[in-house]
Amino acid sequence: MCGIVGYVGAQAALDVVMAGLKRLEYRGYDSAGVAVPADGGLAAAKRAGKLVNLEKALVERPLPAGTTGIGHTRWATHGAPTDANAHPHLDNAGRVAVVHNGIIENFAVLRAELTERGHDLASETDTEVVAHLLAEEFSATADLAEAMRLVCRRLTGAFTLVAVHADDPDVVVGARRNSPLVVGVGEGEAFLASDVAAFIAHTRSAIELGQDQVVELRRDGVTVTGFDGRPAEVRSYHVDWDASAAEKGGYDYFMLKEIAEQPKAVADTLLGRIDAAGSLSLDEVRIGAGELREVDKVVIIACGTAFHAGLIAKYAIEHWTRIPCEVELASEFRYRDPILGHRTLVIAISQSGETMDTLMALRHAREQGSKVLAICNTNGSTIPRESDAALYTHAGPEVAVASTKAFLTQLVACYLVALYLAQVRGTKWGDEIGAVIRDLSRIAGAVERVLETMEPVRALARTLASKDTVLFLGRHVGYPVALEGALKLKELAYMHAEGFAAGELKHGPIALIEEDLPVVVVVPSPQARSVLHDKIVSNIQEIRARGARTIVIAEEGDEAVAPYADHLIRIPATPTLLQPVVATVPLQVFACELATARGNEVDQPRNLAKSVTVE
Ligand code: M6R
Repeated sequence: MCGIVGYVGAQAALDVVMAGLKRLEYRGYDSAGVAVPADGGLAAAKRAGKLVNLEKALVERPLPAGTTGIGHTRWATHGAPTDANAHPHLDNAGRVAVVHNGIIENFAVLRAELTERGHDLASETDTEVVAHLLAEEFSATADLAEAMRLVCRRLTGAFTLVAVHADDPDVVVGARRNSPLVVGVGEGEAFLASDVAAFIAHTRSAIELGQDQVVELRRDGVTVTGFDGRPAEVRSYHVDWDASAAEKGGYDYFMLKEIAEQPKAVADTLLGRIDAAGSLSLDEVRIGAGELREVDKVVIIACGTAFHAGLIAKYAIEHWTRIPCEVELASEFRYRDPILGHRTLVIAISQSGETMDTLMALRHAREQGSKVLAICNTNGSTIPRESDAALYTHAGPEVAVASTKAFLTQLVACYLVALYLAQVRGTKWGDEIGAVIRDLSRIAGAVERVLETMEPVRALARTLASKDTVLFLGRHVGYPVALEGALKLKELAYMHAEGFAAGELKHGPIALIEEDLPVVVVVPSPQARSVLHDKIVSNIQEIRARGARTIVIAEEGDEAVAPYADHLIRIPATPTLLQPVVATVPLQVFACELATARGNEVDQPRNLAKSVTVE
């Protein structure tokens, strides 16, 4: 939700900032803007729409060269996506420029105060007040970092702020509360960004900023303090992927690249987590075995696709550990006064590690005395940092807004946690756990095989481009897979898509079935739990009898479904609980191809942003 870049060093700041914004455009693409202190003043440009509009504007009217700069790509909250509401925002004298991610909740009061003092505010945004307040505080202190600290102490809400001032042109100042901001440290240069992807081409040395901290960037160093001005402790880390990981690498879209990377992402997430004896060793789970044995309930909190991973995890956790498990949308969690205690293990799943709903839910859980384990893909992000322990997925950077490889690796991480709980609590024998681990280690190969057979799925998707509705059905772990298939289609193809538990169909949704309505059915393995399989075969017959066009995803060798499938998509045979890892892949490909066929932007679907840092 909004991407922010700041740079100070010896390079042309505009080039660095624009390249950084390009890498962050997935975070929001309603408008973009830059500001550069140069020639004793401050030059700024901003445009509604995608970054390309700003690029064009900069060609038509180039800004003076400078070696300090800031930039922003916006996902609109306050005010429509217009030029006026685009960031940066400047004070009336045009000496200070600020960019912002988040929501300043008390902006109306501050705006009224400023107007009373004679400031003229030109936009509808909550951000603009900060530029004016910074200008006032800078006049009094002549110190941009101190001015930022003073302003931040007056703000409520969530914010990352980055500012430059014409009177101190070699400094960039940033601040963060409840919103992401990382520092990149290079040779004689430093960077600020919402995500390391913005500066990965320049340095892999990063610093994690904590809550309520202000950072001052100069060529010769970085100073971090709290909002109160006291020096702050920070954690430096090395980013373990390089610039090529955040590039399309020859694919038309990041989503296609990320779908193709799934076998590796799955294998990498297992790597190093199984010891020579075949046992699980999850050193990162810094919650003692004693405490894990005491756990009497698991609660999973997550949003969107990560929530679907949680729904699947519930089946594995309850089956392997016999601990009751609830899965809750993080955005709903704290508002229903959930029953939590020190024996509840809360698992927060988030690709970005910055989703505000999930962050607020985990804070609520910790306040109630529960231990929180984060499953996350982004090193240095807020959710793992505020959790008691973190298990990282090793998907690498996921740039496309629609989550794919992160989802598959979240599933793998959830299976690992479930098995680890079973190991610690002794609810499964070592050889049983070993057998599942062997199945898990074969799953990357199964995903690879699915990817090799996707051409008919693409062809089918193209034939459905003019349809309005697609339904998805599943049972057991296939039900969350159906939900995920529907979510992918909504967000990418902008089609009406719904996922149902196949058994629920007869309780209402079957009324939706009409002639030639495409219905995708995820069929469980015929080998295990054959009751489940038989039931879904009946469900397929029921909808086909009512005219539905059935698109059936079934395991190789499952002949029982073949007579009722208008289109049959084969996946390799996989143990039931693990089947979602392979069954989801055709649905991702299907949605991606339908989006392309409908002329939609695959990587940047309308109205969405990759990381949702507002509630
Ligand atoms: O970063 P997170 O995993 O916390 O994000 C959660 C959701 O916003 C995310 O999964 C979203 O639903 C995706 N766009 C789905 O493809």
